[in-house]
Amino acid sequence: MSALRVYIERAARTDAKVLLFGETGVGKEVVARLLHAYSGRRARAFVPINCSGIPETLLASELFGHTKGSFTGALRDKPGLVRQANGGTLFLDELGEMSLAMQAMLLRFTETGEIQPVGADALAARTDVRLITATNRDLRAQVEAGAFREDLYFRLNVIEIRIPPLRERGTDILQLFEYYLRQASRSHALPCPDIADAAKQVLCAYRWPGNVRELRNVTERLVLLEIDRRVTPDDLPEEVRQSRRPGTRAVTRRRAASDVHPRFDFDEASEDGSVIDSLWDRLIQGDDFWSAVHQAFKAHELSRVDLAALIDRGLRHTRGSYRALVTLFNLSPREYKRFHAFLYAQRCNLPVAPYRMAGKKFDTADKSAARR
Ligand SMILES: Nc1ncnc2c1ncn2[C@@H]1O[C@H](COP(=O)(O)OP(=O)(O)OP(=O)(O)O)[C@@H](O)[C@H]1O
Ligand SMILES: [Mg+2]
Repeated sequence: MSALRVYIERAARTDAKVLLFGETGVGKEVVARLLHAYSGRRARAFVPINCSGIPETLLASELFGHTKGSFTGALRDKPGLVRQANGGTLFLDELGEMSLAMQAMLLRFTETGEIQPVGADALAARTDVRLITATNRDLRAQVEAGAFREDLYFRLNVIEIRIPPLRERGTDILQLFEYYLRQASRSHALPCPDIADAAKQVLCAYRWPGNVRELRNVTERLVLLEIDRRVTPDDLPEEVRQSRRPGTRAVTRRRAASDVHPRFDFDEASEDGSVIDSLWDRLIQGDDFWSAVHQAFKAHELSRVDLAALIDRGLRHTRGSYRALVTLFNLSPREYKRFHAFLYAQRCNLPVAPYRMAGKKFDTADKSAARR
């Protein structure tokens, strides 16, 4: 994080667009605010907007403004957030959730700096806005799957900053934990508990899928428990405690998968899930499905249940799209049929409905999987 801070300070001095990548809760907005605070624009506005929280029809008018009467409810002219951010910084969060139509509008804005309010005949005056965007998705995979415009991706990705997940930050975990314990104890006017070494080890071993936000919630709950002795591992929430036992990562994942596909007994998957983890890593690093997974399967290094678990993981990542899965597994779209035929033959062609319906529910698992 110290190295990242130096990088942030350097990036802040330029006016270049920044694209922030990181799992949910790693601090993308914190970094965006730092970039603004260190920049020459610090005296002007920092305007954040979360693209996923706003219905697509409203997003355009939120960003670019609208004229009175341009749609039902547009009672007066509204300048829009881009104008509000003039001279300052506009932070677009959850960029990966933006529709293709909205992406086209954003592209036009990034190319010319001009904005056209909804319902206006003419372009409004040009604005001077620094654009910082963020996503927790694998945008490159989205580009390949046709869900994100490549031209926009290259426009926004001038400076790329990847914020590592908490589990990769070593003792940051304990520093942040103690910081937030103190903060929670101050704000609730309750004593600040001491943490036993065994509990510290558990905290460091946990995966923290919700990253700093999750950590902050855990500290708050601990303070509210008003424990009048040292905090032991047993005082920690169940999901955190599970990290004590080896292989629990896989157990958690298997349990989640079995919920979706009762026809599979995911408990039969390789004991600690490491086979699946290492194959997944190879796929994410660019190996294709045939050479990584298919071969291991033919060599009996991978069971049918392992294969299903891997497909399950992929479908969580693509939210149930087999087409996107083909791309994610580094196959060309032409191989879609062969891929599907293989899964069908192994009865690993998992139904997609649960992934589509689950939508947001899988967000966390999905992101951490993609980043690893
Ligand atoms: N380095 C840090 N030090 C202290 N607090 C932090 C740090 N990074 C993040 N936080 C806190 O963690 C929480 C989540 O941070 P933030 O909202 O910036 O994450 P995010 O990456 O934007 O998450 P999301 O993907 O859900 O939008 C906030 O409460 C923030 O204050
Ligand atoms: Mg955010």
